[in-house]
Amino acid sequence: MSNPELRNQIDPDKLPRHIAIIMDGNGRWAKKRALPRVIGHEYGVKSVRTIAESAAKLGVKFLTLYTFSTENWNRPALEVKAIMALLVKTIRKEVATLQKNNIRLRTIGNIKALPIDAYNELQEAMALTANNTAMDLVLALNYSARWDIVQATQSIAEQVKQGVLNSDQINETVISQALNTGNLPEPELLIRTSGEFRISNFLLWEMAYSEFYFTDMYWPEFDEEAFYKAIIDYQKRERRFGKTSEQIA
Ligand code: FPP
Repeated sequence: MSNPELRNQIDPDKLPRHIAIIMDGNGRWAKKRALPRVIGHEYGVKSVRTIAESAAKLGVKFLTLYTFSTENWNRPALEVKAIMALLVKTIRKEVATLQKNNIRLRTIGNIKALPIDAYNELQEAMALTANNTAMDLVLALNYSARWDIVQATQSIAEQVKQGVLNSDQINETVISQALNTGNLPEPELLIRTSGEFRISNFLLWEMAYSEFYFTDMYWPEFDEEAFYKAIIDYQKRERRFGKTSEQIA
């Protein structure tokens, strides 16, 4: 089926507002072609570009991409360096595309601990795109959900210590707002590529009611058609939030 036919199957009234993606399989995609892993990441960037543009055009409001996890620092130093270099190069190159598509760049994660050139490049691009309104592209960088829960807990404890919050006022809203994702809606749809069925420390609190979509495709292969298919699949599901089918009918 061609792209327009698939696209027509998407109900614009039932579009997920926020889609989160675990972009997995760059390394295996490269290995299958006897290429260095870094080339896999370079092709992964092409998919980022395609999917970000497609999401914004469809009317998705938030797209969060798991770009570099806290655990990814354990990869070989050369690969970490290459990913950071690719991040800097991509942001520098794509900031015009973000402007053209009215996309605002944001991050979640401890970006202060990124290499200084990556940090500066991100700050610059975020400032430049700050007033864009079509979609927020949220890069999870030096992010893990447990890290976020720890830092949120510390900031809530500090508020209690300062006397601005009572411990009995701590509720789900207080916790949600103390997270890095505090001003993002919860993702309705999580997509993970490469045939793995794990959450891998991504948005643990926020995905309590998300629909999960898994595909065998490696991230560099994940194209617009695959993206449409994930959304169509999501739209066929019944989201009950703990209620019965009859209650939500
Ligand atoms: C997962 O594949 C990929 C990553 C952890 C890195 C993602 C980074 C990019 C696509 C580059 C920079 C991105 C932006 C947004 C500018 P993997 O290496 O875990 O693959 P494997 O599981 O097959 O080894």
